[in-house]
Amino acid sequence: MPKKILLLPGDGIGPEIMAQAVRVLDVLKADGLDIVTDTALIGGCAVDATGKPLPDETLDKALAADAVLLASVGGPKYDALPREQRPERGLLAIRKALNVFANLRPAVVYEELASASSLKPEIVAGLDILILRELVGDIYFGEPRGIEVREGEKVGFNTMIYSESEIRRIAHAGFQAAQKRNKKLCSVDKMNVLECTQLWRDVVTEVGKEYPDVELSHMLVDNAAMQLIRNPKQFDVMVTGNIFGDILSDEASMLTGSIGMLPSASLDANGKGLYEPIHGSAPDIAGKDIANPLAQILSVAMMLRYSLGEEAAAQRVEAAVKKVLAAGKRTADIWTEGCEKLGCKAMGDAVVAAL
Ligand code: IPM
Ligand code: MG
Repeated sequence: MPKKILLLPGDGIGPEIMAQAVRVLDVLKADGLDIVTDTALIGGCAVDATGKPLPDETLDKALAADAVLLASVGGPKYDALPREQRPERGLLAIRKALNVFANLRPAVVYEELASASSLKPEIVAGLDILILRELVGDIYFGEPRGIEVREGEKVGFNTMIYSESEIRRIAHAGFQAAQKRNKKLCSVDKMNVLECTQLWRDVVTEVGKEYPDVELSHMLVDNAAMQLIRNPKQFDVMVTGNIFGDILSDEASMLTGSIGMLPSASLDANGKGLYEPIHGSAPDIAGKDIANPLAQILSVAMMLRYSLGEEAAAQRVEAAVKKVLAAGKRTADIWTEGCEKLGCKAMGDAVVAAL
């Protein structure tokens, strides 16, 4: 049976970068990768067509697929919509519906791009860290939430909440990821202020007893934000909740030179996954053929690795990306003096050629 992949190009630069990822998949298919793809709407384009950011048809297809490859959602056109109709709601809803609680966000600095980072090359050269973000809980989904009038004025409120079982499953994922790497896990919380994250620390510590081979440390999130800039190579795997992970992974992306380079995998308990670049829809550059498709293409590699069991094909895609960078080919976001500047499609051409 061929594996079923659902493609969700979404909004902004999404369709452009997805087109390049599809070309990569086509090459692999021609070489025997047994997959079938289907496409559906999510985000703003889905709101335009159906009034909902996550149409039922899309959700049904996603639930039936072996893996979902998503590009990006959102744009200024949708900013004024009621919250339930905002494109981001579609993204949060599909993550929740697929129960993809473990979000792997690797930040790897390619040798060739060490000078594209705003940090000194010696701070970032050779960096290879993994941020593991809990993706379906925390203040993102906690109830009660809202804006209401209390004592004559409006108040806005959200709830930061984690259950033991939610913490335990992401902690296990963190320790297991660390076991496959350099066996160091840093759990990030704010236990000095937030009870929710005191529980986080307690549960992670307890789970850690089952992984004596992994060195566990704890760090407060403000310090972690600083340490990521001061000395990022001290980390191997960082595990944290949804909101801290959102912020720290954007920060980590800049260590690598561009947010346009970072793929992600969001996995459920059975290896089914949702794969997406960590960047957004970049409406300001949409339709101009200048977006960097590499995070999307590297998301294909993660999909091959984690949901399709195709490690060799995953490495082939990653090697093709490395080869293209080594040849001095760059999109505008990672371009430096002396390199060749390519558009989105030309970068896709280069990766396909390198494959
Ligand atoms: C991300 C994004 C999303 C998030 C937004 C678009 C809802 O920032 O994937 O990091 O906050 O999770
Ligand atoms: Mg984010």
